Amino acid sequence: KTKIAIFASGSGSNYEVLERACREGELDAEIALVMTDKPASFVVERARQTEIRVVALEPKAFPTKRAFEETVLRILREEGVEWIVLAGYMRLIGPTLLAAYPSRIVNIHPSLLPAFPGKDAIGQAIAHGVKVTGVTVHLVDEGMDTGPILAQAAVSVVEGDAAMTAQSIHAVEHILYKETLQNLFKSVPATR
Ligand code: GAR
Repeated sequence: KTKIAIFASGSGSNYEVLERACREGELDAEIALVMTDKPASFVVERARQTEIRVVALEPKAFPTKRAFEETVLRILREEGVEWIVLAGYMRLIGPTLLAAYPSRIVNIHPSLLPAFPGKDAIGQAIAHGVKVTGVTVHLVDEGMDTGPILAQAAVSVVEGDAAMTAQSIHAVEHILYKETLQNLFKSVPATR
């Protein structure tokens, strides 16, 4: 089984879906740990309930981003993690982790990239007045929500209903991420 680490900063709904997919054999992977930069985030609660190891490290507790990532990397290596899966991780991955996991870090973003990168992509799309937005799964490079696109799905904006639009996007994320990861893990040989 492919060993993965999930990085998350928020509610963790994507984490929950991926964890269930691993447990039920829909995604042929094993979640070694959940890494969060936000110890108070709800994903910590979800991970504890599913009995997956939580590593909560606040970057501000480290002198530099490099020192933070070196600590994260040491733990990933101890656990034999092969892929890093970002699921609402709201921080740029730096050179230390990128060098250790080249083309082995995946992200999901709630827009049709390259439109609306960064924070609150759903709000940005609504504010812009687009009629169609969507979801992108991509490999991570040094940019913000850039890197080779693996999969996309379109979602119609529900006019005047931001909550419903967000709900549709999250529902699509929860299907697209596990499918794309399953295809990816099958097609790329193991390294470690
Ligand atoms: C998801 O919509 C994800 O696409 C987004 O954060 C949300 C996390 O939800 N990620 C980004 O915006 C990355 N730039 P979750 O915590 O419920 O999985």
